[in-house]
Order: sequence, then C-alpha cells, then structure tokens
Amino acid sequence: DSSLKSFAQLKNKHIGIATQSYYVNDSQYASVLNHEFDIITPEYQMKMGQVQPQKGVFNFDEADKLVSFATKNNLLIRGHALIWHQSLPDWVVNGTFTKEQWINIMKDHITQTVSHFKGKIYAWDVVNEAFWQNGAYRPTVWYDNIGPEYIELAFKFAHDADPNAKLFYNDFDTEVTNDRSNAIYKMVTALKAKGVPIDGIGFQTHLTINGVNYAEMKKNFQRFADLGLDTDITELDIVTHTFSGTQEEKLQAQAEVYSNIFDIALNLPSVKSIVFWGMKDGQSWLNKYTGFAEYPLLFDNSYDKKPAYKAILQKL
Ligand code: XIL
Repeated sequence: DSSLKSFAQLKNKHIGIATQSYYVNDSQYASVLNHEFDIITPEYQMKMGQVQPQKGVFNFDEADKLVSFATKNNLLIRGHALIWHQSLPDWVVNGTFTKEQWINIMKDHITQTVSHFKGKIYAWDVVNEAFWQNGAYRPTVWYDNIGPEYIELAFKFAHDADPNAKLFYNDFDTEVTNDRSNAIYKMVTALKAKGVPIDGIGFQTHLTINGVNYAEMKKNFQRFADLGLDTDITELDIVTHTFSGTQEEKLQAQAEVYSNIFDIALNLPSVKSIVFWGMKDGQSWLNKYTGFAEYPLLFDNSYDKKPAYKAILQKL
C-alpha cells in the first residue's frame, strides 16, 4: 500500500523526519515512521551539549538508541549537528582556552563523534548556521576563538573520521537568493576551489504560511547544484499561527505551500533528501519557539494525515 517513501524512492528522493530516541518507543509512532519515511535526523541527541557534557567525556547512549532503531529498520540517518553555536555544553560556553586549544576541542569533538558513528551516517551537518541574515559571519564561540577558518577545519576533521559520509553546511532562511545565501555561495565556492571536502548545502526550510518566492527558490537551489553540490531540504516545517482564517483554510493554505515546495524539490536532481522537522504537530519545536499552538507538520496528534500529507502524496 502507498506511502510517502515508496513514491519518493521512485523519484530517487529520500523523505524523512527529525526524531528522538524516546519517540520511537511508542509503537504507533514507530510504525508510522517506518511505513512513511526512509531517513531520520536526531532532533537534538547528537548535538554537542548532549554528546560531550564534560570535556573529553562522551555520552552517545541516546543517539545510539536512535541509530540502532534506524539500522534495524533500514532508515538512513542525517547526523546533526557537529559545530553549532547552540546546544553547547557549559564547559564550552564558559571556557577560556587558547586558539590552539579551541582547534583541538573542535577536532576532538568532531573526530570522536564522527568515528563513533562511522559507516552509519548518510550525511553530517558539519557546520550549522554560521552566518547572520546580513551575510556577515555569526560571532560564535568557534568563530570568535578560531576565526573563519574554523569552517574548513571542521570539514577536514569530519572527512578524516568518516570519508564515506556526505558532509553538509546547513542554514535557515537561505531558500531564496539573499545576503545570507549569497555569503554561503561565496564561502562554498572558495571551499570547493581549495579542495575542502564538502558535498552539500542543507536548506533548513523553516517556512511561514506565506511560503517563499518559488521561482527564486528554484533559481537559488540551482546555482548551488551547479557547483556540484547536493541541495537537501533538512528541517522542513511551516509556522501556521499567523494565518487568519478558519482551521480548515489554514491547513489548506499549508498544503499548498508544501505542494509548491515539492514541485521544486522533486524536479531538482540535487535534492536527494527532504526531511521534516518532526512527525506530529504537537511534538513540533515551533509550539515552544513561537509560543503559539502550531500545526507545522504532516500528521495531527492522532496520527491522522493532514491535507498537507495528501497534497504531497498527490505530487509524488
Ligand atoms: C531545535 C530542536 O527542534 C529543539 O528540540 C532543540 O531544543 C533546539 O534545536 N535549526 C536547527 C535545529 O538546526 O537544530 C533546531 O532544532 C531548529 C532550528
């Protein structure tokens, strides 16, 4: 019987969700996940604050549970995220080290984490959200202490630890051409010219109910594809509380946005995977993030398929 993944696979796409080890203990959740999707991203259980709570002390227990669930069920895994300015352990946030030591901290974190999961990760988000909206480097613990070369170092360390995993730079509000996507384009062009091992750009694609300019999105993805990069959609969801109509109209408007996004994604060979940032509306990070009741995803809290699901199935 039909499922998102069965149709996506016919178009050479992987389709998936962000999830957490304790979600998959729910047998209904697990069966919907396995039926519909073929790739997962740990929503936060591979982030630095989780895996290296103290300097040199690694804890992969929760991430391992997810990885073994995925392996057992033939799901691919996007590793997320090695180097980010959020979800850091206190010892990093409050740490005072020399530049040399910061490079070693980064190297050790990447090497240990990537080696631990070696051979099991389809793609790693190596660096997440390194730019501001205006295209300047975001001042982070990594940028401030190492300088902009932290990015290429991170990719080299990751590649050394698992040469077969695809390596991605991942960011948000980059779907269309703007100062941030231009900065990323410039950076990745330079990295490629230097031979830095980078395979793709992750477009988080956290959208609003207004969607984006789809013609611009297509052009923007294409210019990255033209560099020989994968252009995956990594954290897809839609903020809905700003819509001022009935609930039915809201869900319909959302379905149309998703339908337009899939129109673009399915027609670009460089989009190899499309990952939603969660399965059920009630579990979405957006409820906390915006402070409103949000309906961002494909399933309601009873695992019923929303109009968005049906619109996507139609496209596939
Ligand atoms: C969010 C998770 O959804 C939350 O559960 C967590 O507390 C914070 O991070 N961009 C990213 C993701 O790259 O890692 C973020 O995920 C959402 C925004």
